[in-house]
Amino acid sequence: MAEIINVNRISKNYERKIALSSLSFTVEKGELVALIGPSGAGKTTLLNMLGAIFPPDQGEIVISGKQIAEMTDQKKRAKKIGMIRQQFDLVGELPVIHNVLAGRLSDWGVMKSLVSLLIPQDKDYATAALDRVGLKDKLYERTSKLSGGEQQRVALARLLVQSPEIVLADEPVASLDPARAEDVLELLVNIASEEKQTLIASLHSVEYARKYFDRLIALKNGELFFDLPSSSVSDDHIKRLYSLKEHS
Ligand SMILES: Nc1ncnc2c1ncn2[C@@H]1O[C@H](COP(=O)(O)OP(=O)(O)O)[C@@H](O)[C@H]1O
Ligand SMILES: [Mg+2]
Repeated sequence: MAEIINVNRISKNYERKIALSSLSFTVEKGELVALIGPSGAGKTTLLNMLGAIFPPDQGEIVISGKQIAEMTDQKKRAKKIGMIRQQFDLVGELPVIHNVLAGRLSDWGVMKSLVSLLIPQDKDYATAALDRVGLKDKLYERTSKLSGGEQQRVALARLLVQSPEIVLADEPVASLDPARAEDVLELLVNIASEEKQTLIASLHSVEYARKYFDRLIALKNGELFFDLPSSSVSDDHIKRLYSLKEHS
């Protein structure tokens, strides 16, 4: 396997608060990685830096041999890295099809000007993606009318159309009820494996992390707590990770 992500001693502070402290790890192409750790551990900060939302204060992030800071072409970057979040980032007043096709465009200005100009090929793309996430009949439904689980599936369909090599997911199922959460998570992981994508997802649920992911990276207080294959993670590891004692 080839290395796709190299995180080299990155740090990030917010005023006096240390969010991440000299964190390093690498990820191979096609790996399915769950990021776990208590609230405030630095998971969101890390994913936002991997998604080039903001840069680290120190250290570097290299994606496929290229410094992330140099990946300034938005279109090219969108082919490399896609993000999915807890708050689905969909435009509620638009029909589902437009939100799905937004995966092909890099900004909403362009998106909105294209709203009335769907070409048949676009419709085929969107239909295929929605079929894959089980929403084929919702093409022209107003997005805000869908349930939370369905909206997250629309976000997955948009990601399918975008087709990035790396998918970053920040608590992708945190706002869904448990049954729907597991369904959507399973779909996310299955799509990533089928598309041979590299997936890094932060999760509240250690149970789901162990069940669906190859590797668990645990953060605590902005530092790496452990980085292990799922099968090697013990209940004791988890207990210590979430323990409130400082140096356990
Ligand atoms: N915008 C911000 N301003 C100040 N502090 C922040 C901000 N975002 C995050 N933090 C702090 O940085 C630390 C890491 O936060 P975060 O990355 O959101 O952790 P997680 O996603 O694991 O819960 C926390 O202590 C949090 O309070
Ligand atoms: Mg977070």
